[in-house]
Amino acid sequence: MGDMKRNGARATLVLDGERLAFAEGETIYEVADRHGRDIPALCYDPRLEPFGGCRLCVVEVEGQRNPVASCATRAEAGMVVRSRTARLEERRRTLVEMVASENRDARVDPLHGYASQEMGALLDRYDARPGRFRGARSGQSRIDDDNPFIGRDYDNCISCYRCVRVCAEQEGDYAISVANRGFSTQIVTEFDGLLKDSACTFCGQCVQTCPTGALADLKALANRDVPGETKTTRTICTYCGVGCSVDVMSRGDKIVGVLPAMDGPANEGALCVKGQFAYDFVHHRDRLATPFVRDRETGELRPASWDKALDRAAEGLGKVVAEHGRHAVYGVASGRAPHEAAYMMQRFIRAGLGTNHIDNCSRA
Ligand code: SF4
Ligand code: SF4
Ligand code: FES
Repeated sequence: MGDMKRNGARATLVLDGERLAFAEGETIYEVADRHGRDIPALCYDPRLEPFGGCRLCVVEVEGQRNPVASCATRAEAGMVVRSRTARLEERRRTLVEMVASENRDARVDPLHGYASQEMGALLDRYDARPGRFRGARSGQSRIDDDNPFIGRDYDNCISCYRCVRVCAEQEGDYAISVANRGFSTQIVTEFDGLLKDSACTFCGQCVQTCPTGALADLKALANRDVPGETKTTRTICTYCGVGCSVDVMSRGDKIVGVLPAMDGPANEGALCVKGQFAYDFVHHRDRLATPFVRDRETGELRPASWDKALDRAAEGLGKVVAEHGRHAVYGVASGRAPHEAAYMMQRFIRAGLGTNHIDNCSRA
């Protein structure tokens, strides 16, 4: 059992001179990450099965001849691990430079997606020279895919397969896959068709895990010229009863995009097409900006003040209750309304009118 303590204490390993406890089944990377130690990674997404493709997370383990990928190597009691030696850092720099040689654009707008800055951050961290290695490149762009949500620019793809893995493991969709190998490697849909003709549900998860911006949130990018700093506001998607956490991006008073919250307890970064992309209604020109009240004589709907509209609603509801009883009223709240409005709606129906006839399309 090596370092394993006998009376229930947890096993430990030594990382860069520090003794760290770990739970059975954890990888070296997970142990380091949980203790706040920073090991660079590129093909890693904590929600996915270990892949071990990019080798950036390599560490030296005493007794092993070659460095091992920490994201794919289980921690063992008594291990002595080094993650920051000069040799490892030089190796990582070379790896980053080789990977960057595949990219047409090493820097992309953060509106591309949640993880889109990872590649650029590694270039900065290692002061890497993207033009150091020249030669063949893999990946053909699919700019003819005219879906309104997801841009696919494989000139910026580094074949980390995070998109393919998240589609299979998180979304369970298998809409995309890897074709060919080496410089002919290509991310494809079935029969190499367009995304909109595939099994894709446009959940956006591939976009949000892509570390280079090869995949892009087209709706967010369409807002790239909206002036102002991008702010994010944590909230809960209102569309259904799952309760996915989202970070809404805004500039001034305009919503410019939605990011999934990777630490959302209900969704861990997963969203559906509505939570990810369906926010146009907020600023839509057809959205009603004032109440309307029906003219008693002509029957036409006319703009009215809130006081007038509320008086008319109270009059109508009061009449129904007086004539048919409180259970004749049935309230339906909208999944596009804020949570606070939904809460007030049910309080109004339950406490105000005395019936439990209240529903919301979010209950689906
Ligand atoms: S498209 Fe992005 S996530 Fe997919 S393999 Fe290429 S770089 Fe990785
Ligand atoms: S949007 Fe979702 S379903 Fe479509 S390819 Fe990406 S991960 Fe798969
Ligand atoms: S992050 Fe471990 S091999 Fe890519």
